[in-house]
Amino acid sequence: MRQAGRYLPEYRKVRAEAGNFLALCYNHKLAAEVTLQPWRRFGTDAVILFADILLIPDALGQKVAYVEGDGPTLDPIRDSAGVTKLRLAGFEHRLGPVFETVAKVKAGVDGKTAVIGFAGAPWTVAAYMVEGGGSAQFSAPRLWAYRDPSAFQTLIDLLVEATVRYLAAQVRAGADVVQLFDTWAGLLAANQFRQFCILPTQQIVRALKAEFPSLPIIGFPKGANAVLEDYARETGVDAVSLDVQVPPAVAATLAPTVALQGNLDPLAVVAGGQRMKEETEQILRAIPAARHVFNLGHGFLPETPPAHVEVLAEMLREWKPGG
Ligand code: CP3
Repeated sequence: MRQAGRYLPEYRKVRAEAGNFLALCYNHKLAAEVTLQPWRRFGTDAVILFADILLIPDALGQKVAYVEGDGPTLDPIRDSAGVTKLRLAGFEHRLGPVFETVAKVKAGVDGKTAVIGFAGAPWTVAAYMVEGGGSAQFSAPRLWAYRDPSAFQTLIDLLVEATVRYLAAQVRAGADVVQLFDTWAGLLAANQFRQFCILPTQQIVRALKAEFPSLPIIGFPKGANAVLEDYARETGVDAVSLDVQVPPAVAATLAPTVALQGNLDPLAVVAGGQRMKEETEQILRAIPAARHVFNLGHGFLPETPPAHVEVLAEMLREWKPGG
């Protein structure tokens, strides 16, 4: 999950220096610095690359902008002509700064710290590309997928290819693990979930494993609920990152199939205190430690007091399985 960000004063300082969010993502020196900030402050066991899931559309030639306070905006793609304009040629070159960030981060951590690379999963990235920005329902991409499934599939296929290339380059640059964020998986009806979440994820996993057989791959199908188990069984991911809704005891039943990551509510960290500790203990007790990487169920919120994160990190360091 996102661990860098606006809740940290040192992030806000670097972000102001970079000018805007995308400039920060494409500046390998500053991006490496903000990647390392939470690790330095809290002593996390892993760092996650500082970048964004919308760098893929940007590098494919669909201009992305981040409007202060408003989130991302893109020129929406609504037909196959729009898909044809996207360009894979030169794609890795445009993303070069990201791979340099990975290499810098890898050189900046100690040997015990895992470097996590990431990308958005094809459905979630397509959702922003078709909608033209954030949305509660992402009706435009879902409707397009019903009306013209083959055109929408062309976009998904292109994103599968782009994602494989992007993640493979991150691994070559030093990423130890990669994570696929399917933040809007929970909006898909069951058939669309299979078609646009499970199948593309499976293709990406197969292609990456063919090149890097021992690469651990984590998937985050946010909101998957009733189809979470299908995702865990069928995609081939090594670990599933759990959203806040998955009861830890239900998650534990998946432990023979996949490792589990999660899933403290980010808002519980904003609340802090005894309640944050109790929620954390409940998760730690329910999920077998050998199969669990503790994490939040979504990224840190901007209003999170860093002192609460410090308390949480300390508690996790002192936790004894079975304790
Ligand atoms: O913590 C880290 O170092 C990880 C870096 C990271 C970012 N985005 C940086 C970021 C990661 C892993 C992401 C993933 C991402 N980006 C997702 C999937 C995970 C999730 O949170 O669901 C999604 C959907 C996006 C798209 C995105 N990026 C949106 C909708 C927004 C604007 C809304 C918001 O929360 O600000 C962003 C901006 C963004 N990406 C920020 C960060 C730190 C905030 C930027 C800022 O204002 O400085």
